[in-house]
Amino acid sequence: MAKTVLKKPIPAASSDPKVPVTLTVNGETVTREASPRMLLSDFIRHELGLTGTHVGCEHGVCGCCTVTIDGRAGRSCLAFAVQADGAEIRTIEGVADEDGTLHPIQQAMMECHGLQCGYCTPGFVMSMLSYLEETPEPDLSEKAIREVLSGNLCRCTGYANIVKAFRRSVELMNAAAD
Ligand code: FES
Ligand code: FES
Repeated sequence: MAKTVLKKPIPAASSDPKVPVTLTVNGETVTREASPRMLLSDFIRHELGLTGTHVGCEHGVCGCCTVTIDGRAGRSCLAFAVQADGAEIRTIEGVADEDGTLHPIQQAMMECHGLQCGYCTPGFVMSMLSYLEETPEPDLSEKAIREVLSGNLCRCTGYANIVKAFRRSVELMNAAAD
């Protein structure tokens, strides 16, 4: 029978030379050494300790790892940390006010029971935040909302209450802006 073991081991990721990565995360500029192959999601979670950014599929499907990168929603599992060098990142930890007052989107998710286990919730909030900050008068039809949210998967809720939370977010954000 042919031997299948490798003659030489594949070098572990930890043996890679590290390079400095500087990001502004939730308003704070931080520099850490990271392997060039470290994912942005791992950098955020393991180097910065911001574990509110969740990882599910780690290949761009579920949306759990969504953060904003220079104001646009992006999947942090699909970028290397070094690619984000110099970028402004916002994570779920930077969404509520410093005194703990929830952002209108977080408030709406709570009021409308837009979550059950909550694993997907940071990703939904970051996607909604990015979209609603760019779109002051969004189309509130069921179809349009589901389209906006289609990049995030939820295994628990069946989405109906997340759609309600989207509409409630718009109400609360408009009230806060008045
Ligand atoms: S963990 Fe990034 S899209 Fe699923
Ligand atoms: S609330 Fe459980 S995965 Fe969405």
